[in-house]
Parts: sequence; structure tokens; C-alpha cells
Amino acid sequence: MTLRNKKIILAITGSIAAYKAALIVRGLIKAGAEVQVIMTAAATDFISPLTLSTLSKRPVYSSARGEDDWNNHVELGLWADAMLIAPITANTLAKLANGHCEDMVGAVYLSARCPVWFAPAMDLDMWAHPATQANVAKLQSYGNHLIDVADGELASGLSGAGRLAEPEEIIAVLESHFGHETDLAGKKVLVTAGPTYEALDPVRFIGNHSSGTMGVEVAMAAARRGAEVELVLGPSRLKPVHPKLNVTHVISAREMYAVCTNRWPATDIAVMAAAVADYRPATVAEEKIKKKGGADESFSLELVRNPDIAATLGADKRKGQLLIGFAMETENGPANARRKLVDKNLDAIVLNSIREEGAGFGEGTNKVAIITADRERKYSVKPKTAVAKDILDVVVELQA
Ligand code: PMT
Repeated sequence: MTLRNKKIILAITGSIAAYKAALIVRGLIKAGAEVQVIMTAAATDFISPLTLSTLSKRPVYSSARGEDDWNNHVELGLWADAMLIAPITANTLAKLANGHCEDMVGAVYLSARCPVWFAPAMDLDMWAHPATQANVAKLQSYGNHLIDVADGELASGLSGAGRLAEPEEIIAVLESHFGHETDLAGKKVLVTAGPTYEALDPVRFIGNHSSGTMGVEVAMAAARRGAEVELVLGPSRLKPVHPKLNVTHVISAREMYAVCTNRWPATDIAVMAAAVADYRPATVAEEKIKKKGGADESFSLELVRNPDIAATLGADKRKGQLLIGFAMETENGPANARRKLVDKNLDAIVLNSIREEGAGFGEGTNKVAIITADRERKYSVKPKTAVAKDILDVVVELQA
């Protein structure tokens, strides 16, 4: 609950990207914020106030509505801890840069005593135009904060700078502003997450059930706590976004190994949450492997060892670096985890067992014990976001 009890005004203006405002509201609420949505009349053409009031559990105020709403602008400006204008169009940028306030968004903006963030969305030529750039600079010169546009495909079909930043990134900016726990500021954190796929032929691979959630939650939590985070992510449907997070996508254990060994010398803390394949097929067929015999034909596969990433980092560990591993066990959990702690020269190992309810693979919860040389800390079943926090709390303790 990184934004617990924070009062946030979300001002939405008339861009096609307004549909993403629903995800922004949902993300802010999930992070614990109270959200008051206000809209320009044009924005109501792109997304319905009903959708937004249902998600925010508050009435939505818009300049398209009655006089009562209009009178709220001073009150709202004083109520808010933050004002977020997302998406902001070229038109509203121009109006706010020049102090126009003929609608609710302009009036609340001028009344707001809280910090203001604005996230533009428009076509690439509109964004590049000197008039727009001058308006952005003017708004920044008043102390407002720009959440920069992203590069990519635009609603017009053109491609370039002008896309609204992703909702997760916008929320992360506010989280970073309000985040009180900055105990990892200045630290470089390396995290592995997800499965690895070891190719057999162009069609098939050997993989596992890791979703990437556990490692991604650790990476996001570290970024929120101020660290510069390098996430090395195996094949996963997750797309984490945070200004302090750099994601490198890999497929196989050897690719993960190459990225991690390259980053390790410049790393302060590494958390190895990936489920890395210990073996890979000795050869990768160039064409799809075909069945040969009848129904009773058997097929043997020769496997060779993959490098152990955690053990390699452990062997090269210098004073001051911390290396945290995971152990996914089905039996003799604590004993196996302790052996890995020593063999891989880890500072702590997070034990989870696939046999325990609510633990292991998937997007939900985990139940872990964190084992260090002198202690075993046992935790209850909790969401992986909360497990990530427990792990980082131990990391901070070990650093002290
Ligand atoms: O991704 P999720 O769906 O959220 O699931 C999370 C998880 C179950 C994958 C995670 O919590 C977890 O337990 N990750 C480690 C799984 C694992 O492979 O454990 P292991 O006991 O085989 O490996 C021990 C440690 O060595 C791990 O830190 C592993 O990342 C590392 N290792 C293993 C083999 C290898 N070749 N290189 C490694 O670095």
C-alpha cells in the first residue's frame, strides 16, 4: 500500500489515451490512494464518467456538469496531496501554460497547492511542435513535473514519440514521490526472475512453471525503495515498468548466465529468484524432430549441465556484495536449502516448498523461510508483494 491514504486528483483530458485512465484509477486505488476524477468535456467522449466513478467509488466532476461541481474547484485544490493530469492534450497543455481556467481541470489546476504531474499524449508532430514544447517547458518552469511521453505506435497509425506513459510507470512516479522507504537508495540490485526455456528444436523446449512473479515483485519493491534495479527476466507474460528498473529479456539459462555475470561486478545486491534449468539438450535440432517408429517407439534425449549462475556469482563475490538465492524444494527443505546456502556462497536463501499450500509457482501467494548462517525466519502465507518486502527487509538488515 505505497500510496495509503494519499488523496490524488486525476484530471483526464480529451485524448484517445483517456481509455488508459481506467487502469490508472485502478492502480492508484490498489496502491491505497483515494482518487477524485475530474474531466474535461472532451474527455467524456473518450471514456465514460460512469466507468471512472465506479472504479474510484466517487462522483466524477466534469465541466460538462452542473454548477455545484464547478464550486468544488477550490475545495479540491486544497484537499489533494497530488494532482495528476493524464492524459494531457496539446490543447490543455496550452491552456494551463497560459492560466486559462474556463473548465474544471483549469480551475482545479490553478487552485491546487499540491505537486502536479502531467503526462502528455498526442500525435508525434503535435508533440514535436515548438509551441507544444514551449508549453511543456513553461509548465515545468512553474514547478510542475513532466511524465515524459513514450515512443511507439500511435493511434493515428504513425510511430514515434507521443504515447502516454504506461499506467504502471505513471503510478510508480507517484509511488517514488510518496515512498518513505528509501533504504536502498544508491544501491545497484540485480534480480533474476521467471523460467528458462532450453530448446530441443525450433518448436519445442524444456521449461518449468515459473511465472516470474516472485522475482518481478522483488525487483519492483527494490526500485520503489530507491535502488537502481537490473531485472533479468526469462520468458514471462509480465511487463514490469518503473523508472528505476531496467529489464533484460532472456530465454535460456546460458543467456541469463551471460547477462548476470556481466552485471555482477557493478552490483551491490543480487536476488536469484529465477527457476533456471539445470540441464539443456546436448544438441538443438535444426529442423522439427519427427516421430520415427510405431506407437511403442521410445525416444531418449541427452542432456548436459547448464552453468549455475548463483554459484558463479558466489564464487566471485567480493566484500560488501550480498547474494540472495532461492530454494524450491519438494522434500528436506531446510537441509537442502542450508546446503545450497553454503555451496553457492549465499548470504541468505529463501526456501519455498511446492508441497505447502499457497506456496511456489504462480501469481498469487508464497510461504517462505529465509535462512541465513545463524537464523531461520519463518513467514506465513502472504501475497508475493509482501514476501518481496520481507526479503528486502532481511537484505537491509544484512547490510547493516
Ligand atoms: O516465478 P513464480 O511463479 O513467482 O515462482 C517463484 C519461484 C517458485 C520460481 C521462486 O520462488 C523460486 O523458488 N525460485 C528458485 C527456483 C529454483 O530453481 O530453485 P533451485 O533450488 O533449483 O535453485 C537454487 C538457486 O540457484 C536459485 O536461486 C536459482 O535461481 C539458482 N540457480 C539454479 C540453477 C542454475 N543453473 N542457476 C542458478 O542460478
